[in-house]
Parts: sequence; structure tokens; C-alpha cells
Amino acid sequence: MTTPCSTRLVAPSPLSFFSIPVVPSAARFNSRPPPPRLLLRCCCGNAEMVNAIRVHELGGPEAMRWEQVEVGPPGDGEIRVKNTAVGVNFIDVYFRKGVYSAPLPFTPGMEAVGVVTAVGPGLTGRKVGDVVAYAGKPMGSYAEEQVIPADVAVSVPPSVDHRTAAAIMLKGMTAHVLLRRVFKVESGHTVLVHAAAGGVGSLLCQWANALGATVIGTVSSEEKAAHAAQDGCHHVIIYTKEDVATRVKEITDGKGVNVVYDSVGKDTYKASMECLASRGFLVSFGQSSGSPDPIPMSDLAPKSLFLTRPSMLHYTGTRDELLHSAGEVFANVANGVLRIRVNHTYPLSEAAQAHADLEARKTSGSILLIP
Ligand SMILES: NC(=O)c1ccc[n+]([C@@H]2O[C@H](COP(=O)([O-])OP(=O)(O)OC[C@H]3O[C@@H](n4cnc5c(N)ncnc54)[C@H](OP(=O)(O)O)[C@@H]3O)[C@@H](O)[C@H]2O)c1
Repeated sequence: MTTPCSTRLVAPSPLSFFSIPVVPSAARFNSRPPPPRLLLRCCCGNAEMVNAIRVHELGGPEAMRWEQVEVGPPGDGEIRVKNTAVGVNFIDVYFRKGVYSAPLPFTPGMEAVGVVTAVGPGLTGRKVGDVVAYAGKPMGSYAEEQVIPADVAVSVPPSVDHRTAAAIMLKGMTAHVLLRRVFKVESGHTVLVHAAAGGVGSLLCQWANALGATVIGTVSSEEKAAHAAQDGCHHVIIYTKEDVATRVKEITDGKGVNVVYDSVGKDTYKASMECLASRGFLVSFGQSSGSPDPIPMSDLAPKSLFLTRPSMLHYTGTRDELLHSAGEVFANVANGVLRIRVNHTYPLSEAAQAHADLEARKTSGSILLIP
């Protein structure tokens, strides 16, 4: 009889996603040699030591340390997964900085693809060797191996390689939820997507185009404008050179857009509201520049606007919803609607550099960490 380890790599409650504590001032990432590895002793015969990124205190990218941690056997309803590709998402930055809270210390990361190395007692429907992906919860994917609940994992179709799957799970399901459930984009709609060359942004543009919408994207640079155009934007606005609201009025003959997908927040809120048509939807799904709060209700009145702040997790909370969303994403990879740009890969141990680049707006498309 074996005894499970008490200190497995386990994520904090997904509810901590939604508590908003203090945001410390932005810290710069200074390149420096990795800290000495923390060598822990196994508490029982079942645990193994694996390398993982750990955050012991909130801060800049340098707060992420490469350490050894213990990973125990899977318990009831769980599987152990050896990660082969780990997706980097802006939400990982929010947790590292404390925009969203998690008990310290924690292992960041909310998306990975890997191979099942053990299944919990009595678990059916999963076996060692299965290739699985998960996105959203639990946190802890910046690790060589981790234990997750079996019901958050989905099978990766053999036609989709590990890196593509890791690059698209969280971002693709977010795009699905935003375009098909939060606001149902139809042919004839005009949509505005901020950060159009980003991880989620590039998928929103490709998918909205395929749905028959006219797609307007905003980006910071010429290089990103070229990506956005290749990804289905009919019009690209380089916001560092042009006024977004003025250009949207020109493009739409003064009518405005039916929906704005805004993940930038503070810096874009005002323009987003100006760009909306009468009875338009502001879908505020992130705050890479900070939160625009507080928003007075009176802002909505002049055009009878709708405002929503969705989380992908709230739309993929049941097993059926998760399988539906992931299925739509993989189907659209297979049929060519979604082309995945894995523009940046880093060794897992260099997660800090990936975060520094993401926060400095140096990245486009998806970012992967390779264990
Ligand atoms: N609600 C949900 O369920 C959900 C799920 C997934 C992601 N998200 C949100 O979606 C957004 C995009 O996530 P992602 O992982 O795909 O990242 P990303 O879009 O690849 O990267 C962020 C991009 O935002 C733009 N940006 C504008 N102002 C910025 C600032 N002050 N700091 C950093 N970037 C800024 C930059 O593009 P330019 O250079 O073109 O300005 C940057 O490249 C994030 O806000 C994230 O929280 C929400």
C-alpha cells in the first residue's frame, strides 16, 4: 500500500481568478544567472523531483525561479502528465504581479499539452501514454510534470501536434467563447479587435473573418500590422500613428462597429466606447494596460450600449461545455480556419524572459515554453 505525498504540485482554487488585489509597480527583468536549485527530499517513495518555475513573492519576471519540486502520484480522479509544451498567457503575468491572487508560493501557468504518465486509482477513460491538453485550471503548468484532475483534460487529436495544441487551447477556447457565445458574430457584422496580432487577437481575427464579419484590428507597429492583415483583418489601424475612433468612423461611414473585443482595458476603453454603433457590445476580456474601472453606467446610455466582462472559465465550466469549446477549436485547426502562429519558443527554465518580452509588447501570436 502506498501513501500519497502531501506536497504535490497542486493549483490554487480557480475562484482566486476573480479576486483583485493590489498591483505592485512594474519591475524590469534583469538577466542574471539562475539561482541554485532547491533540492528537496521526497516525503515518500512515490514522489519524484521535477523542475518547475516557482513564484515565492509577487513581482517582475525575475520573481520566477527555476527550482526542483516534488510531484506525487495522482489521487482519485486525477492524472499525472509529463508536459511537452506549455502555453504562455497574459493571465500568467497577472498572477505573477498580483493583479489576480494566488497563495504563495505557486507554480504559474494555465495551459499545457503532455503525455499521461500515471492515472489515479480506479480512473477509467484515461491511460498512460494518452496525449492530453488542458487550459484554464488548475494553475501550475510551468512544470516538467504535474498532477491535474482528469476532467479538465481533453484528448489531442493525432492530427494536431503538441506545440500547436499548447499554443491554441486557452487562446482558441477564449476566441470561441467570445465569438460564438458572449456575442454571436454573424456575416455582415463589423468587429473591432484590439491587440489584433496577439495570441488571442490573431485567432479572433481569423475566426471572425471566417464567420463573414468585417474585421478591424488595432496594433502598435507595422510588423504587427502585417501579421494582422495576414490573419484576416480587412482594416488594420496602427494606434501609435492613427486615432482609432476617427479611423473606425471613416471605415464604417460613421456607423461604428457591432462589437469591440477589448483586452487592453485602461488605454483603449474610451476609444472602444466611441467606436461602437448604437446598441453595440463592448466585450472587455482583459486589462493588459490596467483596469478602466470605475465605469459609470451613464457611459452606456447615449447609444444603449452593452458591456460584459467575460471569463472563458465561466463558459467552459462543465465537461460538456469544455468538450464543445475544445472540439470547435481543434475542428477549426483541422479545416484551416485557424492558422497557429507559434512565433516565440523558450526553454521552460527561461519563462522569465518570455514574460519580459510579452509585457514589453515584443511578441505576436502564441508563446510556448518547452520543458
Ligand atoms: N477573459 C478571458 O477569459 C481571457 C482569456 C485569455 C486571455 N485573456 C486576455 O486577453 C489578452 C491577450 O492575452 P494574450 O495572452 O493573447 O496576450 P497578447 O495579446 O499576445 O499580448 C498582449 C498584447 O496586448 C497589447 N498591449 C496593449 N497595451 C499593452 C500593455 N500596456 N502591456 C502589454 N501589452 C499591451 C500588445 O499588442 P500591441 O503591441 O499591438 O499593442 C501586446 O502584444 C490579455 O489581456 C488576457 O488577459 C482573457
